[in-house]
Amino acid sequence: RGTPPTVVVIFGASGDLTARKLIPAVYNLGFDNLLPADFFLVGYGRKPIPDDEFREIATQAIREFSRRELNPDVWRHIAANTSYVAGAYDDSAAFTRLAAHIAAIEQKLGRDVQVLFYVSTPPSVFAPIITHLGSSGLASRHLGQPHHSKIIIEKPFGRDLESARGLNHTIASVFQEHQVYRIDHYLGKETVQGLLVQRFANAIFEPLWNRNYIDHVQITVAEEVGVGTRGGYYEQSGALRDMIQNHTMQLLALTAMEPPVSFDAEAVRDEKVKVLKAIQPLDPAPGGDTARAQYASGMMGGKQVRGYLEEEGISPESATETYAAIRLCINNWRWQGVPFYLRSGKCMARRVSEIAIQFKRPPGTIFSESAHINLAPNTLAFQIQPDEGLGLIFNGKVPGLATRTQPVKMNFRYSTTFGSDTPEAYERLVLDAMTGDGTLFIRGDETEASWQLYTPVLEAWTAAGRKGMDAYAAGSWGPASSDALLAADHHNWRQP
Ligand code: BG6
Repeated sequence: RGTPPTVVVIFGASGDLTARKLIPAVYNLGFDNLLPADFFLVGYGRKPIPDDEFREIATQAIREFSRRELNPDVWRHIAANTSYVAGAYDDSAAFTRLAAHIAAIEQKLGRDVQVLFYVSTPPSVFAPIITHLGSSGLASRHLGQPHHSKIIIEKPFGRDLESARGLNHTIASVFQEHQVYRIDHYLGKETVQGLLVQRFANAIFEPLWNRNYIDHVQITVAEEVGVGTRGGYYEQSGALRDMIQNHTMQLLALTAMEPPVSFDAEAVRDEKVKVLKAIQPLDPAPGGDTARAQYASGMMGGKQVRGYLEEEGISPESATETYAAIRLCINNWRWQGVPFYLRSGKCMARRVSEIAIQFKRPPGTIFSESAHINLAPNTLAFQIQPDEGLGLIFNGKVPGLATRTQPVKMNFRYSTTFGSDTPEAYERLVLDAMTGDGTLFIRGDETEASWQLYTPVLEAWTAAGRKGMDAYAAGSWGPASSDALLAADHHNWRQP
């Protein structure tokens, strides 16, 4: 893709994400011949680590977490250009050393390089890193040319509207928006991009994609895992910040946005922002548009699992939700009166993410409901993971002399049609940032539009403390209050 010589600098090089996702992503891009011929990986972190040791850590990460086996030839090539710089995140001298390290690479190569900074640290040091990238001149290298510096910023992008605005402000004081790649790894998932193709490369869906035919939409991001060892982080976050505000809202934006005029980054993101801004403010009061809950102990996979309040590092008084459900309404011509329901939780019955479009029932029916007539609403379900695909439920006739009906399913499965050698989200995203394609990244105004919606909810929840916090058994499909949210509109959650 004509990528210039590139240095990827990972801040937070000894972190979990680096080992699990970033280094394997770089390796897999190398395996697929998608890295530029001159590619350099620089780890940056507080802990002093010799280059050799960092290469060894990276090798282990690939062995453990890459979707492909370690191929010594591929890795030798990347490892030869892998190094490490130790330094604090707020130490000007360390950033001067980093700048010298990059200048030395450039000099040895005899060509300009673009630098892609990947900020994968705890959010408390996002601002100092960005500021020092500015003052050291690293942010503005080769500005005005295609191989200018770029920055990828990991989540969480703020914890409310004010902090997100503050972070956007810090970024804007150092970088131009076109240099900035705010990550939401859900956008890198193959099926999420598939959704855009299914919506906009087919003629049959668009005429139905509106309030005339769609009854409501359910977006589910359910996880089987609990908080595990991430209690410290999770207590400060909760399901709304960790999953709803970002990942499920991205799924919603792609589902509900108007067709963009082209598939370029600005056109797509303009439409996403437009639809986010059309969402009506939420009523956070109990019985309003939200439900929140914590998992209690329950059975998962035949084993007794402890409840959230008993988990390591969690206060027994914790008011952090591990499940959140939201009802939202989009105030525009396409969606007026069509509720969108979002839910996400930990320790749920099954790991599954899907977008289910439920259509209206036919106007009257010649098949009156009886023991033999079982009519289901038509449902189009985009299965994001794990069993990636697209399914359509419609009513069919059971063969036989009596008139009997039964809902049947038409299924497309990625794995059956294409096999399962699919790139990981981070491969796509790192590659896109290197080549300068921001389509699958979040623009500053987009983060703010989403925080604008959820900040009042978070404030109300904080003020209420544990009052209004529901519980659900680990291994179940969520709390009663979430079922009630839909029941109030005469709807039920699907069991995906
Ligand atoms: C992360 C959250 O952003 O997404 C985690 O912080 C969550 O809590 C993860 O488990 C889910 O991602 P995926 O790709 O496994 O669905």
